[in-house]
Amino acid sequence: MTVLALLGDPPTLLDPTTPVLRADDLGVARGESVFETLRIAGGRPAFLDLHLERLARSAARLAIDLPPGWEALALAATEAYGHAAGMLRLTCSKGVPGGSPVGFALASPVPAETLRARTSGVAAVTLTLGVSADQRAEAPWLLGGVKSTSYAVNMASLRAAEAAGAQDAIWVSSDGQVLEAPTATVAWVSSGVLVTPPADEVGTLPGTTAHVALELSPVRVEVRRGTVEELRAADEVMLLSSVRGVAPVVSLDGRELGIGPVTAQLRDAFERAVLDGTPG
Ligand SMILES: Cc1ncc(COP(=O)(O)O)c(C=O)c1O
Repeated sequence: MTVLALLGDPPTLLDPTTPVLRADDLGVARGESVFETLRIAGGRPAFLDLHLERLARSAARLAIDLPPGWEALALAATEAYGHAAGMLRLTCSKGVPGGSPVGFALASPVPAETLRARTSGVAAVTLTLGVSADQRAEAPWLLGGVKSTSYAVNMASLRAAEAAGAQDAIWVSSDGQVLEAPTATVAWVSSGVLVTPPADEVGTLPGTTAHVALELSPVRVEVRRGTVEELRAADEVMLLSSVRGVAPVVSLDGRELGIGPVTAQLRDAFERAVLDGTPG
């Protein structure tokens, strides 16, 4: 049920077990590759333009000379996958020293636990990222806001959350501000307002889900910084990401929250938008 397609003109479909990177590829050796993960809904890649724009921005930050042909690649992989619902991962690795970048797409089913998290929510814990909220925006080499495969810190954060009995983490800065989750944007409801931190100011990844979902919010939206104390006192907390969608945070640092009305409405509205392909 997995489809692998290699970037090229035209894209080539390969057996999904085919190796596509050399052992000395800089993506493998140094983590210098960029990726996007998006939803396949109604047999189409959802919000593909937003993801391709971000792929290009991430590639520029890693000095990867992004080759053309990504839209055709995404469409070819989605068509060959042939199911209405799934997920699509696009990757561009820097290539071997002095060589050309290598691009490929993998289409596959959405894992059952991802669907469960959307329906039933996740327990989350806050974890420090060890830098101040301004630092990642001020120091571009820290690669805040870049969707690169150098995600070992993100995965280690999820393991730390699991060790603490949760399923997800929310990073906070050394000066106590809310940043993002290892694979999602964070939003919360305080005093009837939906709040999410400004990605450009705090060096987080500008989420495509947040971009679409905030337009659909049933309550007023504020894009502003927030403290961990405000987050812990929030009426509702949610994690926004392309494949999982709007996932309710049902407990935070051990405090039970349940699934609030704004989260539930936003989750349903986002699922409709994914199917319609319209950002609001
Ligand atoms: C660090 C990080 N922040 C936020 C997001 C949410 O981005 P999107 O909504 O485009 O999936 C992701 C997605 O994987 C991520 O890895």
